[in-house]
Amino acid sequence: MLSIQNDVAVIAINNPPVNSLGHALREKIVQEIQMAQSDPAVLGIVLVGNDKLFSAGSDVTEFGTDLQFREPILRTVISTVEDCQKPVVAAIAGIALGGGLELALACHGRVALASARIGFPEVNLGLIPGSGGTQRLPRLVGPEAALTIILSGQPVAVTDHKCLGLFSAIVEDDVIPVAVQRVLDLVNSKASLPNVRDIDLDPAQVRESVDKQRSKLNGRQRLQPAYGAALDAVMATTQKLEAGLQIERALFLDLVSSKSAQALRYLFKVEREASRLPPDLHASPRQVQQLAVIGAGTMGSGIAIAALDADLSVLLLEQDENALERGRQRIKTHYRERVQSGKINEFQAATNESRLTTTTDWSRLVEADLVIEAVFEDLQVKREVFGKIDVHARQGAVLATNTSYLDIDAIAEVTQRPQDVIGLHFFSPANVMKLLEVVRGDKTSADVLATAMVLGTRLKKTPVLCGNAFGFIGNRIYNAYRRQCEFMLEDGAWPEEVDSALTAMGFAMGPFAVADLSGLDIAWRMRKAQAATRDPGERYVSILDKLCEQGRLGRKTGAGYYVYTDDKKATVTDQTVRNLIDQASVERGIERRSLSAEEIQRRALLAMVNEAALLLSEGVATRAEDIDVVLTQGYGFPRWEGGPVFWARHQEKHRLEAELSQLAREAGHGFALGNLEILL
Ligand code: NAI
Repeated sequence: MLSIQNDVAVIAINNPPVNSLGHALREKIVQEIQMAQSDPAVLGIVLVGNDKLFSAGSDVTEFGTDLQFREPILRTVISTVEDCQKPVVAAIAGIALGGGLELALACHGRVALASARIGFPEVNLGLIPGSGGTQRLPRLVGPEAALTIILSGQPVAVTDHKCLGLFSAIVEDDVIPVAVQRVLDLVNSKASLPNVRDIDLDPAQVRESVDKQRSKLNGRQRLQPAYGAALDAVMATTQKLEAGLQIERALFLDLVSSKSAQALRYLFKVEREASRLPPDLHASPRQVQQLAVIGAGTMGSGIAIAALDADLSVLLLEQDENALERGRQRIKTHYRERVQSGKINEFQAATNESRLTTTTDWSRLVEADLVIEAVFEDLQVKREVFGKIDVHARQGAVLATNTSYLDIDAIAEVTQRPQDVIGLHFFSPANVMKLLEVVRGDKTSADVLATAMVLGTRLKKTPVLCGNAFGFIGNRIYNAYRRQCEFMLEDGAWPEEVDSALTAMGFAMGPFAVADLSGLDIAWRMRKAQAATRDPGERYVSILDKLCEQGRLGRKTGAGYYVYTDDKKATVTDQTVRNLIDQASVERGIERRSLSAEEIQRRALLAMVNEAALLLSEGVATRAEDIDVVLTQGYGFPRWEGGPVFWARHQEKHRLEAELSQLAREAGHGFALGNLEILL
């Protein structure tokens, strides 16, 4: 909508909810700029968003459709702005991201509200800014700052030093009058209109910045083509703008069709779908404002922080004063560190902490709309706790358990209200990790599930619906993967070969380093608990049990699969471990052979794919894509590979089938082979 203020046309970008630059909006901006340009009474133009934000960028729903390429495309809008004979000034409030920022960069001037943020999230989708962002931002803020912004994929405050050079004014309130004044100043100035096109960068400085940033890329970034492409694009700022824009375009188009961008776009979509319940479970959620968390250990404190950060009130309950005090201190320390690192201010920390109440008095549970239990992972303990919750919680409250493996129904049955009981499986650290498995018990009611989904989203998590089966989705797949990796030890690989093959394809850590970090005794305890019901004929690798018997429980005891000195991991396993592994191979009658990195990677992935097929056919997962959400959000699976289901869908089917049959043969008796068709 166009309005006139002091002879300046104010063009409002308005396309709720995030002012994405879809086709209709692009068309409108171009028309209004042309109208303003041809109107002799108009001296210049201010481009402004609505009162909340400038623009979050391209319209993601246009990706992969004709609309994305229908004129006027974003580059046409941008050149209309840049070539306008009258000054165009962007007035930025809220956020200007991606294409929104690219539009603002082409203006002849920019002013911003102090609370505004700008950024290029493209690398998170496997892309680079494709409409001049990599060419114009370095010209305005310098190559070093621009690269930091582009490679981080995160928004930065306009007051950040990296934004120096972008804005002629940063104001505390109402940007429009300041932007109008800036237009009038440009009109009255004798100089020609400032144009980014006219800025030439020092090639030596560009090269130095690009080299420096390239050397700082981590292993996972190096595996994703977008990071290298961003550096190459910024390198092109040594050329004239037009030439640089063409290079950027070519790099961008290559990325759009790349597998990693496809995978990241896919995850972007399926992550949003994950929190939607299937139609037969639609119900109105219950209201939740007051949470109670039982158990103030690692998980309980993390869950409490996540809830406090989401403006909820939290009652933290422990079995005794000492444990309660430890939890209180954990939360206090967290907020103190956040303030010290400048992530939040004192006021925000104090406000969040003020919503925390602690107690050892169970009768106070009556205050809670939703109770989350995070006590020891022991069915008996949890059943006792739920018995008490049932006595004290008010009718209609949702009763949740954070168990990692235990049977939700066996917990629910001790209450008089199993319909209100649900699993909310957070991941550690619970205030950081995005994944939330929402576990549906046999009797869990639809409105309780709906409440959990809404709560998960409010806590800024990605909630995923799971059926009540041992390990739910994530731990079940992870167990199958870890078991396959153990088979590979017996077949001939050393732990470091397995770990490095998997980190080389982008896993955050290899399975043996992870096991050492979390403590081998957790798996050992579980194995002992399952020993009685384990099929004696199945392939079982006992290396971990033997390590534990020797007191090698992982990092915390200084040794597990690896030896740790000063908390630094040895890069290879020591002779003791190698002897144990050799012995395991001999006992199974296996002649050890070397396994290539590719074989290790494929076997690990195939094990996940097989388990994914089983989970889907058993109804533990409702959608195949949910499995990818779980693995990428909670288990360090490389996002740019999309997840095991995405990976499988991009493999040749015959090869997959043959390899899965081989996997089943090698595992031998008791190995359940999933139906691949269900995934593809
Ligand atoms: P933790 O040992 O750090 O904390 C457990 C807390 O519960 C302790 O502070 C203890 O005093 C308290 N507690 C025990 N019995 C109690 C009772 N009867 N009444 C009140 N408080 C009681 O354990 P952590 O790691 O926080 O685990 C808690 C739960 O979260 C377990 O079910 C675990 O499987 C699950 N979980 C743990 C993850 C992790 O990485 N640590 C990840 C996901 C789930």
